[in-house]
Amino acid sequence: MACGESAPQQSTAAASSPSDNKPVYRVYSEQNYVPFIMHAMGQEPSGFEYDLLQAIGAKQGVKFTYTAHVWEDLFASLNRNDSDIISAGLTVTEERKKDMDFTDPHLESSPVILTKNKQIQSFADIAGKKVSIQSGTTHQQLVEQFQKGNGNIIKRDTAWLIVNEVMKNETDAAMLDSAVAQYYVKQYPNENLIVVADKSIAKEPLAFALKKGNQALKEQLNQGLAKIKADGTYDKIQQKWFGK
Ligand code: ARG
Repeated sequence: MACGESAPQQSTAAASSPSDNKPVYRVYSEQNYVPFIMHAMGQEPSGFEYDLLQAIGAKQGVKFTYTAHVWEDLFASLNRNDSDIISAGLTVTEERKKDMDFTDPHLESSPVILTKNKQIQSFADIAGKKVSIQSGTTHQQLVEQFQKGNGNIIKRDTAWLIVNEVMKNETDAAMLDSAVAQYYVKQYPNENLIVVADKSIAKEPLAFALKKGNQALKEQLNQGLAKIKADGTYDKIQQKWFGK
């Protein structure tokens, strides 16, 4: 849906200006999936995916409104036509592709383990351990696979909750997207958090999710992404969020 006038009013930071007729698309994200997208109440959103969308919008002459929403309902919001785009550091999976469309991937992300336990040195070491994940993520499936029914999986609603559990020693480990884990390691240098990556684990393509069949929007975003990759804007944004 690309119609400015018919986009419902949201309590969002980036509202469309009434003076131009640019199409407006509604982006739903969580309040916090740092550094991919952050949208605290009453604040302008920020993050890698936010910068990408803003740059894509500038190239394509389209605008976005941003709404913070709960993780569990993000996908369903597409099908209810409440949202047009989900920005959530989302992994493209065959299973999800049955229910939604994805743009071209904008990043490759490694799932990693975040722990304080020096004995956990590979994904295999989480067998028999208590591991926290955000429910319904690709990480839940990975942990289930590595625990082989032997272990304890704690399912939470947000990434912050599982990171917090690791810091408080309420769990042995958490699984997260690498950039998210790295962010918290930097943010909490006194917590002795360790990131464990496993080279045998395939990197996951991350992309924006769209309602199934919304081909026009998919092309719009893919074209914009190609343009910002071609002119160096993408590299600058990538450097800003993931550079050393
Ligand atoms: N990349 C993982 C997945 O797609 C985790 C995404 C979690 N995103 C979020 N906004 N909490 O399953």
